[in-house]
Amino acid sequence: MSQPDPKPTSPSRRDFLKTSTIAAVGASALSSLTVLPGAYAQGSETIKIGLIGCGGRGTGAASQALSTQGGVKLTAMGDLFPDRLNGAVNELKKAVGEKKERFDVADDRKFTGFDAFQKVLATDVDLVILATPPHFRPMHFAAAVAAGKNCFIEKPVAVDGPGVRSILKTSEEAKKKGLAVVCGLQRHHQFGYIETMKRLHEGEIGDIVASRAYWNMGSLWMNPRKPEWSDMEWQLRNWLYFAWLSGDHICEQHVHNLDVVNWAKQAHPISCSGMGGRQVRTDPAFGHIFDHHANHYEYADGSWLFSQCRQIPDCADSVSEHFIGTKGKASLDSGRWTIDAAAKWRYDGEKNNPYQTEHDDLFASIRAGKPLNEGQFVAESTLTAVMGRMATYSGKKVTWEQALNSELHLGPTTYDFGPLPTPPVAVPGVTVSFELDRVFRNSGCGYSSCSRCIPHLVSVRRIAAYELPQVSNGPRHNDVKACDSAGKND
Ligand SMILES: NC(=O)c1ccc[n+]([C@@H]2O[C@H](COP(=O)([O-])OP(=O)(O)OC[C@H]3O[C@@H](n4cnc5c(N)ncnc54)[C@H](O)[C@@H]3O)[C@@H](O)[C@H]2O)c1
Repeated sequence: MSQPDPKPTSPSRRDFLKTSTIAAVGASALSSLTVLPGAYAQGSETIKIGLIGCGGRGTGAASQALSTQGGVKLTAMGDLFPDRLNGAVNELKKAVGEKKERFDVADDRKFTGFDAFQKVLATDVDLVILATPPHFRPMHFAAAVAAGKNCFIEKPVAVDGPGVRSILKTSEEAKKKGLAVVCGLQRHHQFGYIETMKRLHEGEIGDIVASRAYWNMGSLWMNPRKPEWSDMEWQLRNWLYFAWLSGDHICEQHVHNLDVVNWAKQAHPISCSGMGGRQVRTDPAFGHIFDHHANHYEYADGSWLFSQCRQIPDCADSVSEHFIGTKGKASLDSGRWTIDAAAKWRYDGEKNNPYQTEHDDLFASIRAGKPLNEGQFVAESTLTAVMGRMATYSGKKVTWEQALNSELHLGPTTYDFGPLPTPPVAVPGVTVSFELDRVFRNSGCGYSSCSRCIPHLVSVRRIAAYELPQVSNGPRHNDVKACDSAGKND
């Protein structure tokens, strides 16, 4: 058996990127073949790190970054909430252990609020870890690259078409500037996956004609609402359950499995249709996302991908990918990688911690002046998930172009700790989730208490059920009197 390739970029990855069909983006991994000027610690051995989004994964990623070879230190941190930031400070002080010098975040380099990311970026950090809820990733990533920072960006990297386009554009900017971009799709740095992909790309099971990708599990955390929390704070502290923040769990979690299939296929799907709903997790404490999605994707070569994701306790669980090819099949399931073709094969090489290896690879690539750039495939995998959500929310067949070119931006464009209605649950056959009715956007105030606007509210639910009502550009009045005084409302 050949040994797994521990290098940052495998040949198969390069092939994938070369053959990928998003026209706007070139062969990003070629950057790894060219020594670029880079942007770190010019004249210094130490890579200074900033952490933006100090929750569970941000803290873990910072700890892994601080465990890489060579000089590294964390020098700035930013989070929306002081309690989250302080929690991460305590964890990371413990994580560095004896190497106390690696945690070097003075109080004046700890920032909170919606502009915390800008304050971290204004410091002299060489690299930032972006680990907020995915809604903010396109904005934070664009600002980070504009500020000349190398980036570790957690998956998923967006929740909608405009966000994915932004990620693609910023990734190109990063490439031009010689900045590294590694994403949180850590299976790309997991030896078992790397070796299996090599075999699939060499044709060991022939052409892949059908794939299956599952993330079926029980429930996740939820923070019960506190009386002092505004709508905005409640949603942010329960971001998993709001499509504008997480993209729904098909995006937030299932992106990992969809990404594996794209990686194996060396392509992205061209269309998707499916079904889903909210059958068990119906309490408003869980926002408005679905608790299950099942999709049928089609690739340009005519092959199919059957995808399922479910977050419902006491059901059959599976987090896995399976492939059927013209010469055999492959199973990638819970840390076991097997191929059943002309010969049977099972990965029995070294098992690594991919969360650590992705950071080892990222920092090694920066030090070598050969920055990795994983922007394109994480954008494609994110869009694959977004396209799936569009299909299940609308009940319609959605094409790659519709998803990519969609103008539907989820969530507010300005951020305040104030009122923010929960978007309604999507209704398949009624919700149109990738196009906006511009006529409606110019009419109706969107307040449910305004009886004059109720017909318009019905319209918005028919048109873009999971868009927040206040994105309407129409007149804003919250009672009939005000509505009357505003004159015509349609
Ligand atoms: N690769 C993986 O296996 C993996 C595992 C878990 C999570 N993730 C991803 O990591 C990201 C974070 O997830 P998590 O589990 O750490 O969530 P979390 O809720 O624990 O942490 C998110 C943090 O971001 C902060 N935040 C929210 N909005 C912000 C803003 N505008 N500016 C600054 N800070 C902000 C929150 O206060 C919170 O501390 C998500 O994209 C998630 O999908 C990836």
